[in-house]
Amino acid sequence: MKILAISGSLRARSTNNAVLRSALDLADVPSSIADIAGLPHFNPDLDCEDATAPAPVAALRRAVTDADAVLIVSPEYAHGVPGVLKNALDWLVSSGELVGKPTAVITASPFPTGGDHANAQLRETLRMLMADLVPDAHRELPAIGPKTDPALGVVTDPVTLDDLRTAVTALLTTARTTASEPTAT
Ligand SMILES: Cc1cc2nc3c(=O)[nH]c(=O)nc-3n(C[C@H](O)[C@H](O)[C@H](O)COP(=O)(O)O)c2cc1C
Repeated sequence: MKILAISGSLRARSTNNAVLRSALDLADVPSSIADIAGLPHFNPDLDCEDATAPAPVAALRRAVTDADAVLIVSPEYAHGVPGVLKNALDWLVSSGELVGKPTAVITASPFPTGGDHANAQLRETLRMLMADLVPDAHRELPAIGPKTDPALGVVTDPVTLDDLRTAVTALLTTARTTASEPTAT
């Protein structure tokens, strides 16, 4: 099993990146974090039959293809999805790497809402991309600040860690089932 994690935060001391790191630690399987900061702005002119996808886009597509599961962890900005993350997903629309891919969406916020708007929007976009949204693997984590150690970049709150373990276990259970299914020829 291999997890590809995608973060919606570029911030050095990101609480969402702390959640992402802890979730991957708890998953205890090989994992990598997608580099989406260097993706060009999505432009369909660069993504058609006559064009070769820019190298960072090709790398992202390969990383998604190679992963058994995708874990998206993101803050919410202005009741929406961070532009850098939506941009990355837009590059995956027509190429189809997310189709049938077991996927979880976790949003974390300093507020009690847990980034619920961004979480719902992300799941809607991923539904449109035909990702396999694993029902028990999504989380909206409220009041996240004091539950993390910004210096270490990890979650320290035991209840949140337990919840993350449950979420990634659900994601991996679905990923294992998907991987064991015969592929259509
Ligand atoms: C421009 C801006 C808009 C924000 N809008 C929201 C919002 O709509 N909902 C929310 O829960 N948090 C919002 N926040 C707070 C972020 O959740 C907070 O800064 C969080 O720490 C960012 O995630 P990170 O720590 O992973 O970088 C906003 C922050 C900024 C800077």
